[in-house]
Amino acid sequence: MTIETSKDAQAFSEFEHQGWQTVSGGYEQHFARLTSQSAPAVLDAAGVGRGMHVLDVCSGPGMLAQAALARGARVTGLDFSAEVVRIARRNVPHAEFREGDAQALPFPDDSFDAVVCGFGIIHVPDARRALREMHEVLKPDCRLAISVWETPSPANGFGLLYGAIQTHADPDVALPHGPDFFQFSAVEKLRAALEETGFSRIAVDHVEQTWEFTNPSGLVASFVEGAVRARGLLLAQTGAVREAIEQAVIEGMQQFRSADDAYRVPMPALIGSGAKD
Ligand SMILES: C[S@@+](CC[C@H](N)C(=O)[O-])C[C@H]1O[C@@H](n2cnc3c(N)ncnc32)[C@H](O)[C@@H]1O
Repeated sequence: MTIETSKDAQAFSEFEHQGWQTVSGGYEQHFARLTSQSAPAVLDAAGVGRGMHVLDVCSGPGMLAQAALARGARVTGLDFSAEVVRIARRNVPHAEFREGDAQALPFPDDSFDAVVCGFGIIHVPDARRALREMHEVLKPDCRLAISVWETPSPANGFGLLYGAIQTHADPDVALPHGPDFFQFSAVEKLRAALEETGFSRIAVDHVEQTWEFTNPSGLVASFVEGAVRARGLLLAQTGAVREAIEQAVIEGMQQFRSADDAYRVPMPALIGSGAKD
């Protein structure tokens, strides 16, 4: 497998950084309740337990850090957004959070008993470099676990949103080139990426996650308020195109409506893990 990198790493990195500085509160409000559902499985895949020193790369508001602390681990978190780091420190005061780039980890080799990265690898311009860095800072015989979204399909939230974008949006809006957001979203691709970056004893697991809304307009609103690339794509459209996208998503949300009038949207993930020999 060839891991795709950004064709303009600096522009893409600035776009992502500016984006996360802006949506840090929205991510915490909308996505934290979703991605925290896979935290136990990520920690299990990395073998996190009492007394271990764990690195949480692309920590966001600190859900994995919090869950690792609850297992009795010591946690260092890293995120490149000062705003995100501020929120993580507030949420998880007993972990240590640092501002830094996943592609240049500021830690000596062989430092950590486990490394985790929740839904972060898909945001860096050069995922190969970031995975190699995570490999370096792991102690021998210890494990890394990363989570990514599964491939969009008509039966999940990403498929619903991107299906509507594909039908109604202008694909030529000028966003900096980023690697394919779903390049690791299939079992074999995720396995190959971990193999290619030096990991052994690789496992890939499916995890179900459900995003619950009281209103069918909640899905698009959550992406606009809490995501970076999808937000950029949506905000770059004309008002009429955005309305068409929102309407299509609202119609598609009906398939996820339950008898209690809640909308429960499947947002499945893959967890890839591997060891450093
Ligand atoms: C989708 S959020 C994931 C947050 C959290 N780990 C979770 O599981 O919900 C991605 C996080 O990665 C951070 N991030 C993106 N690119 C990064 C980079 N190159 N280095 C460090 N952090 C980065 C963002 O600031 C953001 O907080």
